[in-house]
Amino acid sequence: MAETRVALVTGGTRGIGAAIVRRLAADGFAVFLSGRTDESVRTALARFAKEGLSVRGFPADARREEDQRRLVESAAREGGRLDVLVNNAGIGHFAPVDQMEPERFREVLETNLFGPFYAVRHAAPIMKKGGGGFIVNIASLAGVNAFAGGAAYNASKFALLGFSEAAMLDLRHAGVRMATVLPGSVATDWNHSHGNQDASWMLAPEDVAEAVADLVRFPDRAIASRIDLRPSRPPKK
Ligand SMILES: NC(=O)c1ccc[n+]([C@@H]2O[C@H](COP(=O)([O-])OP(=O)(O)OC[C@H]3O[C@@H](n4cnc5c(N)ncnc54)[C@H](OP(=O)(O)O)[C@@H]3O)[C@@H](O)[C@H]2O)c1
Repeated sequence: MAETRVALVTGGTRGIGAAIVRRLAADGFAVFLSGRTDESVRTALARFAKEGLSVRGFPADARREEDQRRLVESAAREGGRLDVLVNNAGIGHFAPVDQMEPERFREVLETNLFGPFYAVRHAAPIMKKGGGGFIVNIASLAGVNAFAGGAAYNASKFALLGFSEAAMLDLRHAGVRMATVLPGSVATDWNHSHGNQDASWMLAPEDVAEAVADLVRFPDRAIASRIDLRPSRPPKK
């Protein structure tokens, strides 16, 4: 019998990450997740257990290389291999550039850009040794479309897209494929906490999970390296 494939989803405690966790578990992966705190991870694992999913996870601050290293290595050790890494953990702070605190700017860049870099840096050697793997980075359409107030978030996602494309070129020869998903607005706490009340037209977290599931089951001679995922009926401007 084939060995169970192993996936790691950063920021898998809620929102889009949680939908990706559920989807990959349904597709037969042994799934590991990370979150910021012990408590958020424990709460998420208990919720998944109630749903009948045996998901494992660890707290790991995406901004800290040591946390990301320990996370990747623990998942690979406990799972016995590492086939898929989804860099999903992310935050946004939104303010006009001249009112943006440097600390907030740094936090967004460190979470959304350095976090994926650290995880890729430590996952790639493990995947290479294991004969290959797939890395999906969750960027955003904010990675190609700038908007007022988005100096930090746009910068982080534009940069993540450039990072992903370059890293994909570095790693593909070793069988490590990489792709980026650029979702438009998704109905998660994120949009509620940023004041967007009407979520009826938005993408669902499950739509992003569907894109991730499609990417990782693509025949291994091909890489669909970027998916722009748009709501079909956004409010007309
Ligand atoms: N929602 C949207 O409209 C939208 C659109 C396009 C792209 N995206 C991207 O999709 C991703 C997920 O967004 P979401 O809407 O699902 O967000 P969310 O509901 O706010 O969830 C964020 C997730 O990231 C984790 N996280 C945040 N900072 C972290 C850190 N420093 N270390 C480790 N984990 C951290 C959180 O963990 P805790 O539970 O421990 O806090 C949580 O699991 C982000 O990269 C976001 O930029 C979102």
